[in-house]
Amino acid sequence: MKKRVGILTSGGDCPGLNATIRGAAKALYQRFGDDVEIIGVQNGYAGLIHGDWRVMERHEFSGILTRGGTILGTKRTPFKMMKVVEEDNIDKVAAMKKTYKDAKLDCLLCLGGNGTHKTANLLSEEGLNIIGLPKTIDNDIYGTDVTFGFHTAVDIATEVIDRIHTTATSHRRVMVIELMGNKAGWLTLYSGIAGGADIILIPELPYNIENVIKAIQRRADDGKLFSILAVAEGAIDTAEAAMKKKERAAYRREKGIRTATDRIAAQIEQATGFETRVCVPGHMQRGGSPSAYDRVLATQFGTHAAKLVEADQYGVAVAMKNNIVTTNPLKEIAGKTKLVPETCDMLTVARRMGISLG
Ligand code: F6P
Repeated sequence: MKKRVGILTSGGDCPGLNATIRGAAKALYQRFGDDVEIIGVQNGYAGLIHGDWRVMERHEFSGILTRGGTILGTKRTPFKMMKVVEEDNIDKVAAMKKTYKDAKLDCLLCLGGNGTHKTANLLSEEGLNIIGLPKTIDNDIYGTDVTFGFHTAVDIATEVIDRIHTTATSHRRVMVIELMGNKAGWLTLYSGIAGGADIILIPELPYNIENVIKAIQRRADDGKLFSILAVAEGAIDTAEAAMKKKERAAYRREKGIRTATDRIAAQIEQATGFETRVCVPGHMQRGGSPSAYDRVLATQFGTHAAKLVEADQYGVAVAMKNNIVTTNPLKEIAGKTKLVPETCDMLTVARRMGISLG
């Protein structure tokens, strides 16, 4: 009997999804030859709910190593809605189990971030054979040192900071660069250091705007008439840190604060008189071809998943720990987020460099 292996990609796209799909597929064909069939589920869990799947051909896994995004399509299907029956009257969990059965899957590889792993764990608890593969430019999946997509995003964000230096120095401006990361500041921290940012603000370390202004003023006093801030989209100040999520949203609405970076830029300009601009690279940070690092990581992860399929080892997520590819039980990582800890080496590096963390 042929082994039938399903693959889906869920959540935000990121570089390295196709490279991981390719790694898994090629290693599966190496191991099983014609005794394996790979089933592509379209658009993540939405495809699993709606029975949108097809048997893929070998040639579809060629030429995709360098391609950004995902050949399977992706969608955000929030975990918190998985057990909620909405207007369409569909019991999503039952529908996903039915598709798994209809497609005669022996197992399903779920490529995605935190939300994806929560649903992967739910499906595993429902008795399906699931393997999670950790993707996200946020690098915030618990139990793995790194996720694929992260280092490519760091490269892109670093290039943004490099290029912004030109305008910042020529016009003697303060440039506030908004980088992705609502809860986790890894991308901002790494690219901020790589790009030589003067101030780095991340969600895990609520800032005091007075400290930010002082850091800019100190640079100006030293004759440095420009400053570059790398700010995570989820950066909050110390007053907001004391508020609950809903309270904070209401506070921002009331004050007309659209984004963290808009507010920071306005406060800096008002306090210092320096011309201050915001730059938002947005989804470019997730776009295009994966870096060499991510191609290697994706291939390591994908081929490891194939090995797990051969060993019938399910209910796990692939991970990298101390440079060794390994696994974590899904139930141990689902629902946990890996934030930048106060003890993080990179924070120490930033402080040693005199970078203000607000
Ligand atoms: O999780 C990846 C990520 O790019 C986050 O950094 C960002 O906050 C979010 O997705 C943006 O989501 P969307 O593409 O749905 O706007």
